Amino acid sequence: MSDVVTFADKKRKTVEQAEFTADGRYLRKVRSFVLRTGRLSDYQRDMMNNNWQAFGLDYQNMPFDFSAIFGNSNPVVLEIGFGMGKSLVEMAEQNPDRNYIGIEVHTPGVGACIAYAVEKQVKNLRVICHDATEILRDSIADHSLGGLQLYFPDPWQKAKHHKRRIVQPAFIERVLEKLADNGFIHMATDWENYAEHMLEVLRQFPQLTNQSNTGDFIPRPDFRPLTKFEQRGQKMGHGVWDLYFLKQ
Ligand SMILES: C[S@@+](CC[C@H](N)C(=O)[O-])C[C@H]1O[C@@H](n2cnc3c(N)ncnc32)[C@H](O)[C@@H]1O
Repeated sequence: MSDVVTFADKKRKTVEQAEFTADGRYLRKVRSFVLRTGRLSDYQRDMMNNNWQAFGLDYQNMPFDFSAIFGNSNPVVLEIGFGMGKSLVEMAEQNPDRNYIGIEVHTPGVGACIAYAVEKQVKNLRVICHDATEILRDSIADHSLGGLQLYFPDPWQKAKHHKRRIVQPAFIERVLEKLADNGFIHMATDWENYAEHMLEVLRQFPQLTNQSNTGDFIPRPDFRPLTKFEQRGQKMGHGVWDLYFLKQ
């Protein structure tokens, strides 16, 4: 590996956007992630550097123009925390009538996702390497999303860390602003305690209707490809809980 600092290397440093109060003091944010130090392989770096034009989107403080980006007006599904991105690319490939935007802060995952998207030649996928809560707040127009996917988000198991869980009432409120009518929220987790927390939060919103026949979780749907973390959970004997709600 050479010492040249490329676009992909710099990206990691801009994942977290520093914010300041009105009087110029640094605002400490509770983030839903800790940047892992996982090595960006030469292949992932090259994939990111060479294909960002085709597959990458950068943070911006005005809404993206989805029809200009995708060249069509198909519904846009946003996935937060796609990990290595294999299941996201598979979904994009299986649903050519939808557009997908994946957000991930882990650069090796972004590189791996782009590599797989290039291999599969998907045209309906773009990736963003930035904190999803800031993208939702600043770069996504209200009523513009067909759905939100959140698969196996970091469970933050210890009670003192629960505040770092991405699923919180304020987060869902923001998601609801961004979803079009009939838009979906699909979550999955292998932590029962987080599943119950998700259910409790989603139930607080009268605009959302639970699609579960039993009023809680849905059976694992075939259309959700197995993800890396799900597979890891399975090996440890974890269960899986899927939640599927529609915005009215
Ligand atoms: C436990 S992993 C699951 C990855 C993948 N969905 C899977 O099932 O294999 C959660 C991922 O969410 C990402 N993540 C957490 N908070 C995020 C945020 N605010 N914005 C973007 N990505 C985030 C983490 O970097 C991590 O890769």
